[in-house]
Amino acid sequence: MSLDKHSTVAVIGAGTMGTGIAQIASTFGHRVHLYDVNQDQLEQSEDGLVKILNRQVEKERMTQDEVDGILSHISFTGDLDLIEGSKFVIEAIIENLEIKQDTFQKIEQLVDEQAILASNTSSLSIASISSSLEHPERFLGIHFFNPAPLMKLVEIIPGISTSSDTTYAARSLIDAWGKTTVQAKDTPGFIVNRVARPFYGEALRIYEEGVADHATIDWAMKELGGFKMGPFELMDLIGHDVNYKVTESVFKEFYYDPRFKPSFAQKRLVEAGRLGRKTGIGFYDYREDAPKAEPSRDKELGENILNRILAMLINEAADAVFMNVASVEDVDQAMTNGVNYPKGLLKWADEIGIETVYHWMNTLQVEYREDRYRPNPLLKRKYKNGETFYGSI
Ligand SMILES: NC(=O)c1ccc[n+]([C@@H]2O[C@H](COP(=O)([O-])OP(=O)(O)OC[C@H]3O[C@@H](n4cnc5c(N)ncnc54)[C@H](O)[C@@H]3O)[C@@H](O)[C@H]2O)c1
Repeated sequence: MSLDKHSTVAVIGAGTMGTGIAQIASTFGHRVHLYDVNQDQLEQSEDGLVKILNRQVEKERMTQDEVDGILSHISFTGDLDLIEGSKFVIEAIIENLEIKQDTFQKIEQLVDEQAILASNTSSLSIASISSSLEHPERFLGIHFFNPAPLMKLVEIIPGISTSSDTTYAARSLIDAWGKTTVQAKDTPGFIVNRVARPFYGEALRIYEEGVADHATIDWAMKELGGFKMGPFELMDLIGHDVNYKVTESVFKEFYYDPRFKPSFAQKRLVEAGRLGRKTGIGFYDYREDAPKAEPSRDKELGENILNRILAMLINEAADAVFMNVASVEDVDQAMTNGVNYPKGLLKWADEIGIETVYHWMNTLQVEYREDRYRPNPLLKRKYKNGETFYGSI
């Protein structure tokens, strides 16, 4: 079982993610079938891709010949039968389990037994999608980030039935496409969408407690923490509807662990239709002439905010390692390449000192007596044994 640029690739779903994935595969030299049930969507996908690629020519990042080559390799199609000879199928359709299962059953009838099948799902388990397949051993999760052609990170998620050959062949190909791959266990949120939860959740909690306003929390994370965007700016950009849904889904999937509890402040924004930039108002007001929210720039307050959110992020990163979701290196790669964190969280923990981070978590737990703030056992163990995550710093 091996894949190379001569293997035909089928991408199912010509929306945001499918179009980006088709672009990557075609740029690498594959023949690509991009399939969608919706004809209008196929036209939009093709028009959008032509525009993106033409802009690359204008900016002299690509030649017209390269662009023509990429476009000529992709067939935009509403006929699923055309994917017949494909060796690698990546599905990026609507996030609905029944529709994904049904689609994979059809795909399995069309492609040969050696073909590798993958889903780009963000929130469904690989096990649940694979249950509809006759050969679940050749199925896995391959999670790209948006925009797929620009974001380096791809999470590779073998399911309970995935064979090691499948994982190896798929990961090798995505590496060859120039991506940074990390491997994650089939658990809610995989790596990034799980470990990043406190970036939003703890910021919202601090805001709800009235410790600081949203502009001050954003300022602390950017100015003192080095994050490119603050949590409130980022939630406004992602859209509160989308961000809230991911939080709610991770919370439910973790059997309502209080670490992942969604916030009322965000729920109210969603209910009020204040979804962020796309509606002109979220936490910030983007409408013309709206007053600009100013942070307090109180350094001591800022450091308390940063340390509290950072402690929760590191605790979550430690939990991902503790529960064998991913390795120390992969967790750090995922957060620096998937969400552009200024440093890997576990490397950061080593630099701050495990004892200090453990102390921050312990102080929170003693103060609140909430399970949400329990220090992760691995963090505690490392502190007690005088160890670091990387062995040496
Ligand atoms: N948007 C993101 O930021 C992001 C990031 C990572 C993963 N994902 C995942 O990728 C998948 C696609 O997300 P998206 O944002 O590209 O969605 P989208 O809404 O932009 O596109 C989905 C496409 O699937 C098509 N479709 C629906 N049912 C279909 C079917 N039965 N057969 C073929 N096509 C069908 C729709 O017509 C649409 O074009 C989802 O599973 C999502 O969770 C999304």
